Amino acid sequence: MASSEELHKRRGAAVARGVGSVIPAYVDRAGGGTLTDVDGREWIDFAAGIAVTNVGNSAPRVVEAVRAQVERFTHTCFMVAPYESYVAVCEQLNALTPGGFEKRSALFNSGAEAVENAVKIARHATGRPAVVVFDHAYHGRTNLTMALTAKNMPYKHRFGPFAGEIYRVPMSYPLRDGGLPGGEAAARATELVEKQVGAENVAALLIEPIQGEGGFVVPAPGFLPALREWATAAGVVFVADEIQTGFCRTGDWFACQHEGVEPDLVTLAKGIAGGLPLAAVTGRAELMDAVHVGGLGGTYGGNPLACAAALASIETMHELDLAAAARRIETAMVPRLQAIAERTGVIAEVRGRGAMLAVEIVQPGTLTPDPATTAAVSAACHAAGLLTLTCGTYGNVLRFLPPLVISAGELRRGLDILEAAFRG
Ligand SMILES: Cc1ncc(COP(=O)(O)O)c(C=O)c1O
Repeated sequence: MASSEELHKRRGAAVARGVGSVIPAYVDRAGGGTLTDVDGREWIDFAAGIAVTNVGNSAPRVVEAVRAQVERFTHTCFMVAPYESYVAVCEQLNALTPGGFEKRSALFNSGAEAVENAVKIARHATGRPAVVVFDHAYHGRTNLTMALTAKNMPYKHRFGPFAGEIYRVPMSYPLRDGGLPGGEAAARATELVEKQVGAENVAALLIEPIQGEGGFVVPAPGFLPALREWATAAGVVFVADEIQTGFCRTGDWFACQHEGVEPDLVTLAKGIAGGLPLAAVTGRAELMDAVHVGGLGGTYGGNPLACAAALASIETMHELDLAAAARRIETAMVPRLQAIAERTGVIAEVRGRGAMLAVEIVQPGTLTPDPATTAAVSAACHAAGLLTLTCGTYGNVLRFLPPLVISAGELRRGLDILEAAFRG
């Protein structure tokens, strides 16, 4: 087998430079809470492929379900010749997502595609053009979703012009807005919409209940419920982007549930199918069914292998109670992260929910972001065998997204490495 170094050289001559990687090691196998490269080096996994392998890599039920499906048929295209597993995934999503009302779902390939379709559905159902999004938001890299995403570098730089009718308003970011109460932060956002856009022109308000790439920003309590209330009154479709927060990641099935918020539409991807590419829009039947027959779809959306994996993943989440596992991870990690914060003085805030946790790194005694220290700590983790990711508008947030099946021992070893990395 080629070594990681050899593969990295081959990559340089074959793979486009614009596709980056966090570590230059090439994976041979992964499972539980670890990844092993082709040279036999092991990393504790605090990334889960960016919040995807919630049930673990090659989770036994997923492997079995995909193996059985690949022998029966691999693809027919649901729009050509439909099959049961697509219907069964939609039934599961309709039942699992918040809201007791009648729902429908449609399946796609990627998170960005789900977000694009949520916007299509909201525009079609309301007959309105505008979409409201937030500072620090991340919704994808396609043309429409780049416009919805806040951060220029690396996501948007020189890729414009972007789609129109997108309006950005301030997020509730307690560390950086002086701890503005949730209701006031929501009023600040909706007043801007009313003055500058006009609520009657707004099809959808799109929000991550906890922001992902933007820095694991947890809004102040009351922010999401106040936005929900405003959207209802204004006839605006409330879309929760649960692509990173979904499927037990935050200690409940979906992050909206922590504040009892029922979105009109939810976008789903990542953790849905144990690593196979699948995404969905789930929501109120009257909105979803407003679209004419043939108006939604795509060749691979709801591919049978991905649907088999999703059904097996959802079963695994129920059987292993992975929402409780995420809460246990939070209980184990937060005190250790707080101890690091107290000892080093470079962490302004430990935040997040469940197994979606982060530290925001600053120059001591200030709120000035320190992306250099963030990158150095992350690099030290990688060198010592812990896979971590950074994020945030200012590049100064170190985030932790372990698979929810990580063992207590692996979690402890990962935290030991992290602690040592902060010592430098
Ligand atoms: C909240 C959120 N929305 C949308 C996306 C885009 O998903 P994908 O990369 O599958 O297109 C992501 C990906 O990180 C995300 O975190």
